[in-house]
Amino acid sequence: MPGHFRSHLLRSEIISGGTAVDGLASHPLLARSARPLVLAGHTVGAGALFTRVCATLAVGREPVVVRDVPSPARSDVVEQLAAGYFVRSYDAIVAVGGGSTLDTAKAIALVIARGGRVEEHAHTRAGPQFASASQRAPFLPIVAVPTTLSGSEANANASIRDPAMLRRFSLVDPALLPGLVVLDPAALASHRREILLGSTFNALAHCIEGIYSTRHHALADAQAETAARLLCSVLDDPASLMQPDMLGRLQLASTMAGALISEVYVGLHHAICHALVSHCGVQHAAANGAVLPWAVEFNLRTLAHAGPDRVATVARALDVPPRGAAMDTAIRIRERLDAMQRGAGIPATLSALGVARAQLDAVIDYTLQDRALNTNPAPVQRPDLGALLTRAF
Ligand SMILES: [Fe+2]
Repeated sequence: MPGHFRSHLLRSEIISGGTAVDGLASHPLLARSARPLVLAGHTVGAGALFTRVCATLAVGREPVVVRDVPSPARSDVVEQLAAGYFVRSYDAIVAVGGGSTLDTAKAIALVIARGGRVEEHAHTRAGPQFASASQRAPFLPIVAVPTTLSGSEANANASIRDPAMLRRFSLVDPALLPGLVVLDPAALASHRREILLGSTFNALAHCIEGIYSTRHHALADAQAETAARLLCSVLDDPASLMQPDMLGRLQLASTMAGALISEVYVGLHHAICHALVSHCGVQHAAANGAVLPWAVEFNLRTLAHAGPDRVATVARALDVPPRGAAMDTAIRIRERLDAMQRGAGIPATLSALGVARAQLDAVIDYTLQDRALNTNPAPVQRPDLGALLTRAF
């Protein structure tokens, strides 16, 4: 039985297809925009897709174009671009890129509307810390054209790094959800295989952590299972990765998986990845492949003691045949993830990602403070983390 739940999954308008970008300018969300802020990072900003977006928005408008949005998203850049609103009067934000660019757009909209410094809006383990409940300006409409599998286009969260404090924090506000998402499979084609495959593990992590989240519910389970199967179909055939059909599957699945984050959140795996990004400078997408098998096994071993339900749902999503006790299935799920990781040929250990053993204590400190642990299905203690990171090292 599905049980009781309340859900707002996939609330954005989503347009999918190879020519969707060309119709952006006439979409109702942008039809009255005279000066959209158009964002991209270095690589995407130099590409053909961004040129098309800028060209279509330039007709009858004066877009403010930024081509050097940093990755990860940075609080100083957010505040600088938010301050520009009061000089240049942006009336919409169009973000073309991965999670960092999309998160930058969300944070700019939040600071323009609510004021204050961006970190004053951080959501911590203790809950949200809104600097102000009042609103000094309207929330600008956000249009997202994702070029990676971060899923940021489909959720109301943003991850921001404070370069001065060497820390990362999250923003969580329903108004951060992009009103329009444009999915064009060609947007993925410019990425190196390694980045795309790492990003695929990120999307798969959103599915698995959604299934075992303490906030999981039946509709989210169904969405996570479907998305995970699409992602596994690509990881099982990595040689075909760049074919349009495969890219389309990845884009659809990552948007479905990204929407889960706003509703059922994530867990231990993401807490560790956030720490690796903040403290060790590892890219979020790259961190996923090395951490996911071990974080998932840790959680599923604990869940196996409570009963087979969550373990069985993850097994079904990853096409791991149900056989033996839940504990055995938990181990075979980790082996399945290991096999997909080996097939993808991405860095499989923390040391391969450039993490030094001397950094692990600090990674544990950061992980234990991460709000993603609020919805992790198992309590996590320092010795557990030490053992997990040693296995992943
Ligand atoms: Fe993620």
